[in-house]
Amino acid sequence: MDLNRFPRATNMLSMNLIIFVVFGASMSSAASAQSDSLQKAPWRNVALSPDQRAALLIKEMTIDEKISLLHGTGLKDLSPVSPLAVGTNGGAGYVVGIPRLGIPAIQMSDAAYGVRDSGKNGRYSTALPANVAAAASWDVVAAFQYGALIGRELRAQGYNMSLGGGVNITREPRNGRTFEYLGEDPILAGTLVAWLIRGTQAQHVIGDIKHYALNDQESGRNAVNVNIDKRSARESDLLAFEIGVSEGNPAGVMCSYNRVDGDYACENKYLLTDVLKKDWNFKGFVLSDWQGAHSTVKASAAGLDHEEPGEIFYGEAMKDAVQSGRVSTAELDDHVHRILRSMFACGVFDDPPQKSVVDVATGFEVARKIAEHSIVLLRNERLGEKEAQLPLDASRIKSIAVIGAHSDVGMISGGGSAQVDPPGGNAIMPPGQGRTVWGVPDWFPTSPLRTIRAKAPGAAVTFDPGTDNAAAAAVAKTADVAIVFATQWESEGMDLDSLTLPLHQDELIEAVAAANPHTIVVLETGSPVTMPWAGKVSAILEAWYAGSQGAEALANIIFGVVNPSAKLPITFPMSDADLPHRSIVKPPRESTTEGETDAWKRIAGGLPVFQTTYDEGLKVGYKWYDAEKKQVLFPFGYGLSYTTYSYSNLRVTPSAVPEGKVRLNFTVTNTGNRAGEEIAEVYAALPGAAGEPPKRLVGWSKVKLNPAESKDVLVEVDRKYLSIFNVERNAWELIPGEYGFMAGGSSQSLPLKESVSLK
Ligand code: BGC
Repeated sequence: MDLNRFPRATNMLSMNLIIFVVFGASMSSAASAQSDSLQKAPWRNVALSPDQRAALLIKEMTIDEKISLLHGTGLKDLSPVSPLAVGTNGGAGYVVGIPRLGIPAIQMSDAAYGVRDSGKNGRYSTALPANVAAAASWDVVAAFQYGALIGRELRAQGYNMSLGGGVNITREPRNGRTFEYLGEDPILAGTLVAWLIRGTQAQHVIGDIKHYALNDQESGRNAVNVNIDKRSARESDLLAFEIGVSEGNPAGVMCSYNRVDGDYACENKYLLTDVLKKDWNFKGFVLSDWQGAHSTVKASAAGLDHEEPGEIFYGEAMKDAVQSGRVSTAELDDHVHRILRSMFACGVFDDPPQKSVVDVATGFEVARKIAEHSIVLLRNERLGEKEAQLPLDASRIKSIAVIGAHSDVGMISGGGSAQVDPPGGNAIMPPGQGRTVWGVPDWFPTSPLRTIRAKAPGAAVTFDPGTDNAAAAAVAKTADVAIVFATQWESEGMDLDSLTLPLHQDELIEAVAAANPHTIVVLETGSPVTMPWAGKVSAILEAWYAGSQGAEALANIIFGVVNPSAKLPITFPMSDADLPHRSIVKPPRESTTEGETDAWKRIAGGLPVFQTTYDEGLKVGYKWYDAEKKQVLFPFGYGLSYTTYSYSNLRVTPSAVPEGKVRLNFTVTNTGNRAGEEIAEVYAALPGAAGEPPKRLVGWSKVKLNPAESKDVLVEVDRKYLSIFNVERNAWELIPGEYGFMAGGSSQSLPLKESVSLK
């Protein structure tokens, strides 16, 4: 090429271009040669096991490369931020990859009920109904679909690790994260989280289970020490994790902020090594909750594999510890091995995420269906000789008053790191001003007023904001029915003071109910609430935080397009006074960091500890009310349908082999005139010598039945679910004796009973 034909400046530019093109070409051929040789590297062989592949790869790694996998790159306000953080995809965690060896970066995102931070990152995420709502479906297939949808949306947004999988059981229903968890029963919660994790990991996204363990209150979570006896811990909170880990096989376990029995969960040898890695044979890696790591040598020896979000303890400090022999190379390699084998096992090497447009239509469809299976019908009265209040007959109803809770524009969602951003912003804010803000409730643009109007085109549907009780009552009085919406907002970082509905909503409901006997209450809550008005309204629906398509699902239930089938995964008590503890133990001033700048420094160093004692032990949820003989408002496992069911013909067959499952057969019949789906529940009463609460859930089955149809149901019960945890022997043990088996439609409606002797 004749460069003299061009003016000088252009010549220089052209020269640069030529150099770039030539050099770039040789670079790219070098890069492609390197990528070819990486493709042929022995650890790329998919015929080898994840452990074999990880072992081959570790041999090639320098100490710096190994350590780079043991921590994140920092997050503003939680730790110093490394310059390497530029490669983040915008999620809560980012671990740099190692291009020399073809190791991909780990891009982590919170994803409790959908992918977090899509607003900040200019993307879209579907909000599924909150986790507690999904638990109300008792549906393992739906749990898989829930996890799978999250996995697909994570991938579409460029993430390869989920930080979902919350399964702390509801020991304390005022815990502000109750909506992120799966209810009060360890077998129900553990089984559902396992299926959720399977769904996510099937999309080749690394799954997670959290917050391990006993993180049952948010107040003072970085300073609180939980006291509980080992047997109670193993049979309640830890059992949910045990089932989740052994059946769901998550690659990640996030250890929690709190201390347990003196040690922080993230440096607690009993929890991380003795129980998780030894007893449960967990092969994946333990990552700290964000700023939940507090040491290098102690945490490493206890079993913490990875620090998030930064590298206060697992960066240079870890290198020093390895080089000075305080952490052995074998221990370092074990941490690295666990991370790499998880990446191989989940497919993030072989099938990395491809950014694409999130499938909004499928997201809506899945969200709606799950919501339809999670809205619980708690009350449905007949007034006089009339048929039950619900479903409403769209062809006959003339007028409906829709009242309260911004139900003209949307439905509320759960906050904190679980928050999914509403498309278009917070629906109760002016357009363009609804950015998600920590501590401010977000409404999703799913409007009950609109869906109710669409379902009842012949009715006059009026809206009242519910801000003035007298005005709301006046609107209600003139309508055929009044539908009052009430919310209780929850978020990470706070607990509820009480289960009373906030903002005087009880008074609003009382006023409306006094004006119109046909009052339907729709609750949008993350925890149980008390209902002093329960006997005065004609119907109650618990819609939880219903997600992107909440209003569509709700209208389908209200107008009978869908027959409700969900059942409570949490007891609704009569009052706060009936809970095991009068109130949540609050931290002393010096154990909190509220509003402090650089709070992470004090947290990392360790805040003054304060105590909470779970002396109710095994008696969590319904086990407490059963044992204490306390009447409840709505029991665990309870939920109505538009049809009715009967139970008959129970047969219990202990297995012929000692380790075999106990088989229960019984018949469920649809005795009403609508097709429906019944969750048939099985409980067991252990022999007196076991020293257990009166009964525990041991299995269930969802049965679809047409009117007058009967089906024989089989529930097989794992012997572990009939056992107690023997602390001396560190093992599950079946106590020989008489076992009472009960089957029915809720924990307090168990018409079938049979005892068998087991040994
Ligand atoms: C929460 C975790 C979350 C993490 C990252 C923490 O504050 O407890 O559940 O995954 O932040 O956002």
